[in-house]
Amino acid sequence: MTEQNIGEVDPAADDRLQLGLFMPNCRYAYSISTYKPDVDDWTYASNLKIARAAEAAGFSFLFPVAKWRDFGGVTQYLGTSLETMTWASAILANTARIKVFSTVHVPLFHPLVAAKMGGTLDHIGNGRWGLNVVSGWSEREFGQMNIPVLDHTERYRRTAAYIEIIKGLWTTEPGTFNYDSPWYTITNGYVSPQPIQRPHPPIANAGVSEEAKELVARLCDWAFISPPSIESVAGVTSDIKSRAAVHGRRVRCCLYPYVLWRDTEAEAHAEVARLKEHIDLEAARNWADGLTGRSGSFNDFSLEMFAIGGGALPVIGTAEQVAIKLSELYKAGMDGALMVFLDYYRDTVRFADEVMPILRRLGTIV
Ligand SMILES: Cc1cc2nc3c(=O)[nH]c(=O)nc-3n(C[C@H](O)[C@H](O)[C@H](O)COP(=O)(O)O)c2cc1C
Repeated sequence: MTEQNIGEVDPAADDRLQLGLFMPNCRYAYSISTYKPDVDDWTYASNLKIARAAEAAGFSFLFPVAKWRDFGGVTQYLGTSLETMTWASAILANTARIKVFSTVHVPLFHPLVAAKMGGTLDHIGNGRWGLNVVSGWSEREFGQMNIPVLDHTERYRRTAAYIEIIKGLWTTEPGTFNYDSPWYTITNGYVSPQPIQRPHPPIANAGVSEEAKELVARLCDWAFISPPSIESVAGVTSDIKSRAAVHGRRVRCCLYPYVLWRDTEAEAHAEVARLKEHIDLEAARNWADGLTGRSGSFNDFSLEMFAIGGGALPVIGTAEQVAIKLSELYKAGMDGALMVFLDYYRDTVRFADEVMPILRRLGTIV
């Protein structure tokens, strides 16, 4: 297993599309709509069932969302959620091959604490853990702790320091790492055990802005991206990859699509219509305002797009149509797909039966 790769065990699969699930560790993940086939899919028992189905299907990785309170509305969108470090610990302990990410909010976890927890998680999973570092954008979430959301530029400067510290603690002799910055000072920083993966577990960032792209190019292994249209994907992926090349690095891009297929195109679109019909407008506005208000990163998204998949790119149709679209996205530079499903457990099983054989035929996965 290489550090850059998310959870593949077959080296032949290294450069093929890596399939991941954006797990429903939060209630109402991820459509902002009361139309939801299984409202209780957020529970640990359900997450484990889905995780095991994804592992059996040959998916590469699982990825949670880290949220600290609801976004209002009748759904109390994402209000009930499993914290992602503790969640990953249990999922890793109960799976064998699939890679599992956690997400830390920079303002909430000291980097030494995150590095220590990460070392522990990578040992629990025997080298299958990855870290998503998010700068944090929600006044609604942080306000309850009276933690300010920094201005966007400073936010990302602090995130860069954060990642440099974590990498330093994971890769230098314990007790020897020093770092000075306006936000953190580390003196003879000590983390042991260090992670099993060398030089360190994959580090991801899911920012959209200029600052985020520069951060990813310089310091991360994976960029989780959310472009507003299929047509814009090639531009975004080549931009990120060429920025990384300037630093002599390789960064892979993982797109965040809402993959919804049914036996006919009409049935798939009928599901989307039901989501729209039952949209939780209040929560959708709160979500969109929080994300767009501070950075402009999601300005091209309509409220409806937020409502359908929380900001995911819709990939809708029959099994054949979605497989072809995913293959086109792979050719456009998408190395991984962090998929959002409507009916997580059933769709995971059906994806293995109905979509993966077509992706194999197309040479997109092995
Ligand atoms: C796939 C994906 C996963 C994300 N996960 C989280 C998360 O778990 N918690 C969170 O607060 N923000 C999350 N975000 C938000 C990003 O960290 C980021 O703040 C947002 O995309 C806006 O980009 P910007 O910070 O560059 O303006 C996620 C975004 C994407 C695209």
